[in-house]
Order: sequence, then C-alpha cells, then structure tokens
Amino acid sequence: MEKFLNLISGEMADAFEKAGYDRELGKVTVSNRPDLCEYQCNGAMAGAKRYHKAPIMIANDVAAGLGDSKVFSSVEAVKPGFLNLRIREEFLSEYLTSMRGEEKFGLEAPEKPASIILDYGGPNVAKPLHVGHLRSAVIGEAVKRIARYHGEKVIGDIHLGDWGLQMGLVITEVSKRQPDLCYFDPSYEGEYPEEAPFTVTELEEIYPTASKKSKEDPEYYAEAMANTHRLQEGERGLRALWNKIIEVSVADMKKNYANLDVDFDLWWGESTVHEAIPAMVADMKEKGFAYESKGALVVDVAQESDAKEIPPCIILKSDGAALYTTTDLATISERERLYHPDQIVYITDKRQELHFQQVFRTARKCGLVPETTQLRHIGFGTMNGRDGKPFKTRDGGVMKLSDLIRDINEEMRGKIASNPEIGPEEAEKTARQVALAALKYGDLSNQASKDYIFDIERFTSFEGDTGPYILYTIVRIKSILAKYTAAGGKDVKDCVIGLAQSKAEKDLMTDIAGFNAMMDSAYQEIAPHRICAYIYQLSNDFNSFYHSTKILSEEDAAKKESWIALLSLTLGVLEACIDVLGFSAPERM
Ligand code: ARG
Repeated sequence: MEKFLNLISGEMADAFEKAGYDRELGKVTVSNRPDLCEYQCNGAMAGAKRYHKAPIMIANDVAAGLGDSKVFSSVEAVKPGFLNLRIREEFLSEYLTSMRGEEKFGLEAPEKPASIILDYGGPNVAKPLHVGHLRSAVIGEAVKRIARYHGEKVIGDIHLGDWGLQMGLVITEVSKRQPDLCYFDPSYEGEYPEEAPFTVTELEEIYPTASKKSKEDPEYYAEAMANTHRLQEGERGLRALWNKIIEVSVADMKKNYANLDVDFDLWWGESTVHEAIPAMVADMKEKGFAYESKGALVVDVAQESDAKEIPPCIILKSDGAALYTTTDLATISERERLYHPDQIVYITDKRQELHFQQVFRTARKCGLVPETTQLRHIGFGTMNGRDGKPFKTRDGGVMKLSDLIRDINEEMRGKIASNPEIGPEEAEKTARQVALAALKYGDLSNQASKDYIFDIERFTSFEGDTGPYILYTIVRIKSILAKYTAAGGKDVKDCVIGLAQSKAEKDLMTDIAGFNAMMDSAYQEIAPHRICAYIYQLSNDFNSFYHSTKILSEEDAAKKESWIALLSLTLGVLEACIDVLGFSAPERM
C-alpha cells in the first residue's frame, strides 16, 4: 500500500503542477506546528527563487487549485509562503479501512527479498553470559524480526567464541584439577565418556581462575598456549574435552536465550571455519595481498582518505596462530560459499569498530565477497548503571545475565502479585512476560549506538516511556474488546471505521496511518528505537482518546462500532510492533 505521506505529497505535487510549477516542490511533511495544522508543505518557499515570485503568490496559486481536494479538508497559504494542511476525515478513514484489509497493515513486500546473515549474540564458551551480551542478543533479535517482517530472508548466526586461548585456559585448569582424566592420556584409544567432567557452574568458575593464573604465572600461560595449539592441531583427547566444554556451555546458553525469547538459526562458532583458514591464507599470500611483517602475516588496509590511521590487519601471528580477525574473515568466506548473502550484518559493542573496519576492508581487498555484498557493523553503546558507569553487581563485579534477569523478574513479580484478581501461577507467568518487555524496551528505545542507563525501577514502571506502559495499553484495549464481544456486540471484523469525531480520535488515526512508513524506515535504518518511539506516541494518543471517549456506553451503534474497529486496528498495529521488538503482551496484568 502506498505510504500515507506519499499519497498526500502526490496530491500536493499534482496541485503544484496544475498551477504551473514543478511537481517536485509538492513535498509534504508532518507539521512542526501541530497547533496550526496537521501537515505542511514548504515547496512555495523553495520555488520562489526559481520562479522569481513571492512565495506567498505561489502558495496562493497552489491552494486555489485544491479547493475540492479529496485529500485535504483545508489548505491555507500563510505568510511568508507556507501551506498549512488538514486532512479530510473521509480520506483518513478510507486509508485505515484499507489497512485493515491488507496483510501487514499495508507494509509492502520488497520486490526481491534480500538475503541477510545476521551475526549477533556472540557469547563465549565457558564464560558466563554477562550484561554486555544482553544488548547484542536483544538488538540482534529485534533487527532479525524487523527484517523478516519487512519481507527479507534472514539467517541469524550466534558466532560462538569457542576457539582461542580461552579454550586452552579451561583445558589447562581441568588438567591441573583432574590430571588422571583419559582426555590427557595420549596413549588412550578408547571411547571418551558421555558425561562431562564438570558442571556449568564449575566451568564458569574454572575460566576466571585459569585466566587469573595465566596472568600471574608465565609457565601456566605457556602451558595454556601449548594446549590451545594442541587443540587447534586436532589432538584427539583435547578435542573430545573441548566438545564437552561446548556441550555443557551451549546447553546453558540455550536456556538463557530461551528466557530472553532469542533464538538462532545457526550455531556456528569461530572453530567452524578452522579448516578453511589455511586455504584462505594461502590465497591471500599468492595474490600478494598478505605479506610478512615483523614475523606476522598482515594485509594493508589503510586508505588515503582515512582521518585516523588504520593499522594493517593481522592474519597470522608470528607463531602462526590465527586470531579473532582471521576467524571472522574465514567466516565471511564460508558464508559467501554456502549462502551468497546480499548483506552480512554484525551487532556488537561499538568498541569493536576498528576490528570490523579491518575485517571488511581485508575481505573486500582479497575479494572474499562480491562488490555488491554489503558488510555492515552496528555498534552499540555501553549499558551503564545509575551511577553512569558500566553496569556492575552491588559488590562491583561483572553482572551475570541470568542474575540480571532474575532481579528484574522479582521486581515485576512484586508489582503483579499486588493485583488480587490474578492467581499465583498466572502472576508468575505474567511477571516474566512484563519483565521481558521492561528489559527489552528499556534497551531498544535508545538509539543503539548510544550508551544508556539501566534503571530497573524506571524500566518496570507502568507509566512513561516503558515496556510495561505499552503492554498496559494493549491489555486495556484487549479488555474493552472482550467486554464488547461478551455483551453480544457485532463481530469486530464487520465493524466499519467511520469519521473521526474528535481531535484525539483523529490524532490516533493519523498515527496508525503512519505505520508502514515507520516500519520501512526502521528496517532501512536498522533502527528498532523508531518502533519504540512510534508505539509510545501511539499509546499516548490511544490513552488520550480512551480518556475522552465513552466507548462501551455509546448509544449510537455506528459510532460505537467504528471505535471498536479502530481499537482492533490499534491493537493489531501495537502487537505487530512489539512482536518485532521481541516481546509479547499478556491477557491481563
Ligand atoms: N565473542 C565476541 C565477544 O564476546 C563477539 C563476537 C561477535 N561476532 C563476530 N563475528 N565477531 O566479544
């Protein structure tokens, strides 16, 4: 369906043309003076020079031709040459009626869906998920759903950190604690045990311990490096142990991500492309892109136009070991080989910007992907505590994601439990649902690249720009619709949207009419925060309408049915929005 604003602009362009001016001048925007008009057009101002005329004269000419417009109920030319516009109620009502009949409320499908690989989550095996991984998961999941809703083909890949020194460290620490395990016996030829020699809780303690020891003790560090090397060379016992580490760790991750309603299509890790590295490196050398510098193998990626110096991309360290960069490059190759994506999009902390700049430039230079493949990095800011510093636990440690989720669930449980109508089981489920909305909305409502303050109290509030407020609005609409239906009202599908009866109603209708344009730009700009801003405004306008209108007690059946139809459309739009943001609403709360 054509976007509402485009339809209005089209009408205006026709009017400019009819009056003898360039139709390009007929661009309409939402009014920045809502007290004066709903929309405005500044084309007469822009045309003044070209036509050697006072802008007000042009505006008058254009307005004169719009007297019987089916789109505008009023077109006012005001000095120095603005066109102040109001929309005809009939036109708005017809637009909303068409929206109701359309799939995705009139958001047009792309001519040809783009295939996108979305790299997000990025947790590290054997390390607990911490709040830094929260943003990648929450933003990535929303970006994935937005793109899919838009009609694109998206593959979400978690890109596990499962390969480097961190694995060697864990293996080393296990070997110290349980040296007799068969994994460490080079002469062992039997099957390795089904059961892992550690639990996930132990694993989460093993890694930091090992990491600390390696920093204090050079011998320990050397051993960990050697183990990393042996693992990467494919030593049977270490590979088997490594598989156990992954198994235990991934099982736990899956639980955490399920709690966040986040899921991945691919569980590739850095290790997935291990075997593809030698051929890639050989090719880079052969083509003369990679060369030796101080023992390491590097590719130059600096460009003349760089404002800051971009250092060469290191492909192999002097000991021949592959790096984070190397696995990312090989992953791009593998993704190209298997999926030929139109885009690869990465969602990580913005502090990885330089890394991705180097990786993308190297990938282009070495021809790992065709010119047309877009490589995009969406870097997000830091999640801070109320003190403005990176979010920590009360005693100053790194907050585990599972603890954070537990805290916010508890906060919400307290609020929901105070509703006497809701039984304990439902309260528990609802609390988790609302808490997830609080958490995700609190994050997504900020522009991703900015830092934000994680404030449980504010996020869980039922008032203001919060997830619970949006859900509360949805629940309110559901409850009115349920009451209407229970009272034997006409089937909601058959109710017809009529003309706006008040300013509040018209504002609500105008918001709804902007849905497809908003969703399209949220997709194009990879900007979930636009959807949050939209549903916040929509909820505010709905609540103003609700407070000024007696819906269920209205005697005029046509009016009442029109409102019911409007409510059901509002609900549909809100639910579509929260679904792409990655949360859902309960029946009541
Ligand atoms: N594991 C990395 C980290 O914790 C994030 C991975 C992001 N994805 C990528 N393809 N590099 O920082």
